Amino acid sequence: MKADPQALVFDAYGTLFDVHSVTRLADSLFPGRGAALSQAWRGKQLEYTWLRSLMGRYDDFNAVTADSLDWSLESLGLAAGARERDALMQAYRTLATFPEVRAALARLGARRTLAILSNGHPDMLDAVVDHNELRVHFGERVYSVHEAGVFKPDPRVYALACTGLELPAESIGFVSSNGWDAAGARSFGFAAWWVNRGRAPVERLGSPPDAVVGDLAQLADLLA
Ligand code: LAC
Repeated sequence: MKADPQALVFDAYGTLFDVHSVTRLADSLFPGRGAALSQAWRGKQLEYTWLRSLMGRYDDFNAVTADSLDWSLESLGLAAGARERDALMQAYRTLATFPEVRAALARLGARRTLAILSNGHPDMLDAVVDHNELRVHFGERVYSVHEAGVFKPDPRVYALACTGLELPAESIGFVSSNGWDAAGARSFGFAAWWVNRGRAPVERLGSPPDAVVGDLAQLADLLA
């Protein structure tokens, strides 16, 4: 592993932005069911990205996120009209960061280039980055799978970071809280740090992460 990569590339959803920060809104719309809806929504959203990639039927992350919301609402028997649905979709554009993210990015970015590589559609990513005032760390280096027309963990997606940053894979460290995404990045050739926020076991995918940290503050301690 390259202990000190020239650039760090971050996954967005689940790593920088807490997808379950929609739970409060979901709970206010459907009392007592917010956590279940948020869990089902995220699970189905990822499943649809993998399935669409396998089917060769890419549709952008806005569409996948809306479709997985509709499936989740129906599976939980929650009756939602346009108002509830729009509010939940809008919440995805204003997700909160995890508490340590801002300070950790400042430390991690002091000596190296920072970027984002995400399944998100460029519009969604711009919205959530600007909402959280993180542009100062990433500039225009917010890369979306949309350009490749396929979702993670297809290797063509990770290659977008090399092209965008004009760096070889060996110079890039990838950071994700999604174990399967860290495995995809490692398999592609990046050094991979897995942010194990959920205290899950390492994925059995043949490409274990180079290192595991609990959150981004720990990563900053390791690399700063
Ligand atoms: C992303 C998904 C994996 O941001 O969370 O790419």
